[in-house]
Amino acid sequence: MSVFSGSLDELRKSARLGGGDQRVQRQHQQGKQTARERIDLLLDPGTFQEIGLFAVNSLHSAGNGTGRAFGDGVITGKGKINDQPVYVFAQDFTVKGGSVGKVHGRKIARIMDLAIQNGAPLIGLNDSGGARIQEGVNSLAAYGEIFYRNVQASGVIPQISIILGPCAGGAVYSPAITDFVFMVEGTSQMFITGPEVIREVTQEEIELESLGGAGIHHTHSGVAHFSYKDEAQAFEGVRQLLSFLPANNLTPPLSIPSLDPTDRPTPELEDIVPDKTDEPYDIKEVISILVDGGEFFEIQKDYAPNIVVGFSRLNGQVVGIVANQPDHLAGVLDINASDKAARFIRFCDNFHIPLLTLVDTPGFLPGIDQEHEGIIRHGAKMIFAYAEASVPKITLILRKAYGGAYIVMGSKHLAGDQNFAWPEAEIAVMGPQGAVKILHRKELAQAADPQALQRELAQSYRENLASPFLAAGEGYLDDIIAPLESRARIIHALETFQNKRVSVPQRKHGNIPL
Ligand code: HXC
Repeated sequence: MSVFSGSLDELRKSARLGGGDQRVQRQHQQGKQTARERIDLLLDPGTFQEIGLFAVNSLHSAGNGTGRAFGDGVITGKGKINDQPVYVFAQDFTVKGGSVGKVHGRKIARIMDLAIQNGAPLIGLNDSGGARIQEGVNSLAAYGEIFYRNVQASGVIPQISIILGPCAGGAVYSPAITDFVFMVEGTSQMFITGPEVIREVTQEEIELESLGGAGIHHTHSGVAHFSYKDEAQAFEGVRQLLSFLPANNLTPPLSIPSLDPTDRPTPELEDIVPDKTDEPYDIKEVISILVDGGEFFEIQKDYAPNIVVGFSRLNGQVVGIVANQPDHLAGVLDINASDKAARFIRFCDNFHIPLLTLVDTPGFLPGIDQEHEGIIRHGAKMIFAYAEASVPKITLILRKAYGGAYIVMGSKHLAGDQNFAWPEAEIAVMGPQGAVKILHRKELAQAADPQALQRELAQSYRENLASPFLAAGEGYLDDIIAPLESRARIIHALETFQNKRVSVPQRKHGNIPL
């Protein structure tokens, strides 16, 4: 009997069954939703229009006794989130473990093409055993074609991956190319080779969750941008993220009227940022005072927490914020912080999101590990990303901006549009203590009270070499502003540069150090 026997209603019903009751039950027992349940939870109610319901897998996998399943283990279509169009694919683990065969791959590729053509975000819900073994090279080809489209779509439409089960082997590279990766604790894993292969090859012992679970990728590898306790929370996270993003690279993000006055004074900032340059504080408190309604959507919260990146609104307009975090490692720049910030800056530049940089950093992290792991190469990414970005770039130095980190953090020298500092800020080649020891070694060695002399010299250094007024005098800062004026002045600067245009020499693309 043909797989297509029956009325349209009957065929639709059977096509929507996926792998059948038993496999659906197993999915639920593992704390996972089915692909269709996930789509319903993620999208605005009633907006999903399926494309490719009747696609069936190729004869090869049917010959293996697993049967020809409608949909071929992936549900694809269009829907809406926050009333804006999105294209979605959701791998159905109940059908051949969500494995990727020829037709499965074609369906995803088609959805990706539609998302690119129609300029709408692409969201992939990943839950798959990887390349479908029975389909051999055809399943590898399918992956290759997905990867190709991920690259074509990069910088054209936002791409979001939600990992909701296994994502193993080369399959991980599609999410890795996308802009944001969401994971769920306990049920999603990403790895190139699993525990068994690792045991065989390197004799190392590790279980699945420690190898490639949400925790490790969110805190340690930097592969995941978000980690949530369950699927529903992850979907809510995606909806929130999308509220800050434009549909594509030709449209600006949605601006919404702000109820927060643009000229609201921000005197609280003086209490939050300590006068002593080595005292920690939470930069997120500063951000919440500055932005509309205190709302900040943080990205990669637990990865390289010495730098904070995320989205907020100022006067209703979306901004990407990059800020040193003095509460963690004094806000130093290291390899991971550089990677995290550079990728975020490039995303903002792709999608017309202005950058607000808040600077308070002692510089790049010294250390043999950092040098040998390539801080030179990684730190250079930040310079590249800031210099390349043509969106409005507003920078405020709150306290310390020493050495290379001063240049890197959105300085005027990398084409910052409006650069501000507070009056107590320190901008110099290095901090006063280090500088004084180098400049006055002999006097300090001969002094009756070396500590008193060092304090005196450090104060003189602050006033004569590190004062922000010196930088303003050179035109490297556009203004010195009081903490209480900060919100108003940043908003004014953003307005000034909202129609900014930049011409760059024609080239294919730059060659960012990777
Ligand atoms: C075909 C697959 C499959 C695959 C799972 N299934 N993976 N079928 N190709 N790759 C099928 C199973 O046969 C089973 O079918 C059903 O899906 C559910 O799988 P289970 O093993 O019962 O589920 P579970 O115990 O939850 O284990 C899930 C799993 C395991 C950890 C993902 O299935 C697994 O290890 N699969 C293989 C993973 C893998 O090595 N993939 C290749 C990676 S390399 P029935 O009919 O019994 O329900 C790769 C290369 C990509 O992907 C290259 C791109 C460049």
